[in-house]
Amino acid sequence: MIINTNAEQRKILRKKIRQQRRALSPQNQSCASKKLQYQLLKIINKNQHRFKNKLIRIGTYKAGDGEISTAYFEKKTSSRRIEFLFPIIQKNKTLYFGKKIRNKFPRSNMYKIPEPLKEQQTHVNDLDILLLPLVAATRKGTRLGMGGGFYDRTLARIKKPGPLLIGIAHDLQIISDIPEEPWDKPINYIATDKQIIICRS
Ligand SMILES: Nc1ncnc2c1ncn2[C@@H]1O[C@H](COP(=O)(O)OP(=O)(O)OP(=O)(O)O)[C@@H](O)[C@H]1O
Ligand SMILES: [Mg+2]
Repeated sequence: MIINTNAEQRKILRKKIRQQRRALSPQNQSCASKKLQYQLLKIINKNQHRFKNKLIRIGTYKAGDGEISTAYFEKKTSSRRIEFLFPIIQKNKTLYFGKKIRNKFPRSNMYKIPEPLKEQQTHVNDLDILLLPLVAATRKGTRLGMGGGFYDRTLARIKKPGPLLIGIAHDLQIISDIPEEPWDKPINYIATDKQIIICRS
């Protein structure tokens, strides 16, 4: 059987790479999360001029399905002027972002992913940085997510300059080719446990 549609190829890639990241040991996951924080700090330091000494608002995510976790980065930057916000799925399948309450998520969404409350949720344009969990990406910044299009729809609503877009992944999730779709929006950086990739500065 010849597989030739983009959608089919993307589906196969997703399945394969999700399996690979889920197979990482807890030790490997924890080590990767620790290393990731240094790459993220480097990107923030390089882009200080964008944040102008104000509170930096970072949209992040709660890791699941073998995703590399930003938890160490959150913990280690807790003394800095950084605020972390987590995705809240809207009826129109876009994402807004909100804070945890007393370091906890008060509810879960329809995918059983813990979520902040919708009161005082923040539009993507009001973030300084958005960390996008990747299933896979290429070095030029083509992004493959979980397939829901939630991040794609959210990126489509960004008005320039918008937040700095940083895709986050384990190094094994960086691959040579992903079939592109017309709605794909480029990201600025990819940060993994091993490297920073500049896609568009
Ligand atoms: N700007 C958009 N407006 C409406 N629908 C969109 C938009 N962008 C993508 N979609 C839809 O989302 C679906 C999934 O897209 P895609 O395969 O790129 O998901 P993904 O990038 O893996 O997911 P995510 O964006 O949640 O990480 C597609 O059916 C596509 O039509
Ligand atoms: Mg997409």
